[in-house]
Amino acid sequence: MTTSPAYYARPVVGLHWAIALLIFAALPLGVYMGDLPLSPDKLRLFSYHKWIGVTVFVLSLLRVAARVAFAPPALPEAMPRWEQSAAVAMHALLYALIFVVPLSGWVMSSATGFQTVWFGVLPLPDLVGKNKELAESLKLLHKNLNIVIVVLIIVHVTAALKHHVIERDAVLARMLAWRRRPRRC
Ligand code: HEM
Repeated sequence: MTTSPAYYARPVVGLHWAIALLIFAALPLGVYMGDLPLSPDKLRLFSYHKWIGVTVFVLSLLRVAARVAFAPPALPEAMPRWEQSAAVAMHALLYALIFVVPLSGWVMSSATGFQTVWFGVLPLPDLVGKNKELAESLKLLHKNLNIVIVVLIIVHVTAALKHHVIERDAVLARMLAWRRRPRRC
């Protein structure tokens, strides 16, 4: 019989926080840059946003590989069944969105006719041809998917804080690589 680890493996923890940080950078940048008048600065911010977004996509591939390679700790036994199911569903949705949000931006950018050149050195293939109407629909899709991910992130963070502060269990601590003292599970 295999026992569940007490903590997430370090690569999983590192990827979790790296992706979270990059999303926190891409979100406000995306909102800010959209309203700017056309200028070289605006185009530069668009590039930074696209590079961050593509990096999220690439790290998400690694994240899935790390999730397969390293078994996650089990949810606390004291957690009610409904909450365990809700946590599993929430994590599945977040996994889907860390792929779908960047992909929607990449396809939108392709439809707009602006190729993404990752960090200014690696030209990425356009996923669709230039198409103004499609670009408009994808822009709306990208925006709405971002609203969904923001709502899910708020619920996710609230749940983590509730476990840490109110239930005082190890749910948040085990995603913090620098904390090695388990609280009760
Ligand atoms: C973690 C990944 C990403 C996040 C969180 C994110 C977030 C956002 C947000 C919040 C906006 C503003 C939406 C609005 O209010 O209209 C936006 C706009 C935009 N995003 Fe992303 N994005 C991501 C990935 C990408 C990627 C990978 C690309 C392209 C390769 C991209 C291209 C764009 C473009 C071009 C806009 C501006 C649309 C316009 O105003 O014309 N995004 N993004």
